[in-house]
Amino acid sequence: MPFVEKLVIHGGHPLRGDVQVRGGKNTSLAVLSAALLCDEPVTLENLPDIEDVHVLLELMRRLGARIQRSGRNATIDPRQLTSHRPAPELCRKLRGSYYLLGALLGRVGEGAIPYPGGCEIGARPIDQHIKGFRALGAEVDDRYGMVEARTTGLVGTEVFLDCVTVGGTINVMLAAARAQGNTMIFNAAKEPHVVDTANFLNSMGARVRGAGTDVIRIRGTQRLHGCTYTVIPDQIETGTLMIAAAATQGDVTLHGCIPAHMEALSAKLLEMGVRVDEQDDVIRVRSLGGHRAVNIKTQAYPGFPTDLQQPMSALLTTASGTSTVVETIFDKRFKHLDEMLRMGARAHISDRMAVIEGMPGLLGAPVYASDLRAGAALVIAGLMASGDTEIGNPQYIDRGYEKLEERLSALGAQIRRVMMQE
Ligand code: EPZ
Repeated sequence: MPFVEKLVIHGGHPLRGDVQVRGGKNTSLAVLSAALLCDEPVTLENLPDIEDVHVLLELMRRLGARIQRSGRNATIDPRQLTSHRPAPELCRKLRGSYYLLGALLGRVGEGAIPYPGGCEIGARPIDQHIKGFRALGAEVDDRYGMVEARTTGLVGTEVFLDCVTVGGTINVMLAAARAQGNTMIFNAAKEPHVVDTANFLNSMGARVRGAGTDVIRIRGTQRLHGCTYTVIPDQIETGTLMIAAAATQGDVTLHGCIPAHMEALSAKLLEMGVRVDEQDDVIRVRSLGGHRAVNIKTQAYPGFPTDLQQPMSALLTTASGTSTVVETIFDKRFKHLDEMLRMGARAHISDRMAVIEGMPGLLGAPVYASDLRAGAALVIAGLMASGDTEIGNPQYIDRGYEKLEERLSALGAQIRRVMMQE
């Protein structure tokens, strides 16, 4: 029988103490790709030490970008790109590889990527990305699992996105930054990392206005200059740690976060009876248990983030009363609940709604992560449960959370990574 990595958690220990929030995964994937648009070297700071960032940096190296790492910073010199075809096998490891297409189209006029990979949480088309590139004047072929785009010169235009899409908004913004003339994106996503990417583009001399609203104006520029830019903290890691603190009836102070990005979650935790105190770049979460059931409906920002739906579902399994979770963004994002049923959770799923009946507690059990945020949800369930929980497929968690078990152990969790027979 082969040996595989697992996380083993002995639950029932409250998380207590201070934790530093790391730089954002999804913003780093967008900002790193945007660096390829530049005509000079750029330095990015506060990058998280996670698998998705490692894979994207390797993709950029293979395209000819020269990259120097030092701690959480990376200096990217994109002046000698040698290819416009990112390695397909690496692209398939992460959804965020799609940003390379917008960046290459804007920088060298062509790019070809396979349909991107990423978490299995439902249909994940990129038709709006393609719609935007075609509106800017690119020819785009999406056949045989590949998306190939080319242009003799992008021209600014108006793009009305058919749905609110974070990736689509950012990808069109990247290409438009190097188009001739002005581009308006209507029905744009407003997530913090859309704003962060726009701020980075502007730091390189681009002219992006309106990011964070549903209309973004981009004035194309023929030349972008180098800069040093610090990416924002991870909104979803912040939320995951907040939920873990509440779930273990702990007292955790998160440092280096942006409370304004967390309003939807903070409001729900307060509704449940959790104490949430905010000050500058610090959030303190305390709980003595006795959580009230609540109803969650995921929405585009500033609504409740779909990426926190799974960790929140873990907390709801022991709230007193019946909670409902409506997932409006993705159509297969409840697999974590199937696993939690093995731990004594009571949930009924129909289509995009889960009804969770709060139980007195969870019992540790062997479970498997099916995707990144499902893995985070199972870690929270294991921290709450009495007894031991073994979590298979921890590599999903490593894609988006930096050294999670080390940082949770420092807060008092009994969690370790072991090799076990399958
Ligand atoms: C980004 O995915 C994030 N990933 C996801 O985080 C996050 O859940 C999602 O945004 C929503 O916030 C990255 O940033 C790498 P969308 P993305 O385009 O860009 C539909 C995590 O755990 N749609 O905003 O794929 C789509 O099917 C990951 O960190 C189209 O129909 O999300 C979905 O229903 C998981 N056509 C909705 O829009 C398109 O061309 C929102 O998708 C694009 C999207």
